[in-house]
Amino acid sequence: MAEVVIVSSQEAAGEIYAAAAAALIARKPDAVLGLATGSTPLPAYAALLRRGLDLSRVRGFALDEYVGLPPGHPESYRAVITREVVEPLGLTPALVRVPGDDGGLLETAGERYERDIVAAGGVDLQILGIGRTGHIGFNEPGSSFGSLTRVKTLTSHTRADNARFFDSPDDVPTHCLTQGLGTILRARHLVLLAFGASKAPAIAAAVEGPLTASAPGSAVQLHPHVTVVVDEDAAAGLANADYYRYAWDNRLAWETP
Ligand code: GLP
Repeated sequence: MAEVVIVSSQEAAGEIYAAAAAALIARKPDAVLGLATGSTPLPAYAALLRRGLDLSRVRGFALDEYVGLPPGHPESYRAVITREVVEPLGLTPALVRVPGDDGGLLETAGERYERDIVAAGGVDLQILGIGRTGHIGFNEPGSSFGSLTRVKTLTSHTRADNARFFDSPDDVPTHCLTQGLGTILRARHLVLLAFGASKAPAIAAAVEGPLTASAPGSAVQLHPHVTVVVDEDAAAGLANADYYRYAWDNRLAWETP
């Protein structure tokens, strides 16, 4: 089962991610971090920044990218990851990859990205948000649990949710490149974060619902090392919340997320 931690603030959630990242980087200075965009991971990146670690040898692979934005577009995930992660945290730009950023053909970008992740030794720690449709990365409902990095069509819900970053809703790309659920499941440790009431149904489906491609986040139930960190609002739909609190409050000294 996933370890579910219900926290009182986004800052506390960020600290749990940062503690896991810091322990990893201490034992492996060239660790491979799986990076995510969206508002959810920001407190985690901020908490990691507060640790003041040397991250210059850390390697990174982003979860996803839009297809069809002009190079350098400020809302491309390459630009977002550079602005929100690489620059503030002091990662080395050449060590951070985003799907499709190697200049090759779009049709084979997924295969190349998979190859590059494998060549790097795999992702050690993957941070995840979850969309209101239940997507992780951009794996919309219906995505296979075995899927690898590939081009996907975004749902109208996701395009509407992400319209806030663009001048007009029509400017949101219709397609994306995303790591598959199978790619994500290969990472050694998953940290799934969610905040706010709008995420409560997606979190309940991911953590306690049946395993189904209709709730892509439920794929995390297949992973042996998952930490789900949610605030009270995002935890509102969890039937076993009392047990998760009890388990966290009574964790053994050596049990760190
Ligand atoms: C986008 C990203 C996802 C992210 C989701 C939720 O669709 N591709 O990786 O989890 O948005 O975003 P937010 O964290 O802003 O709610």
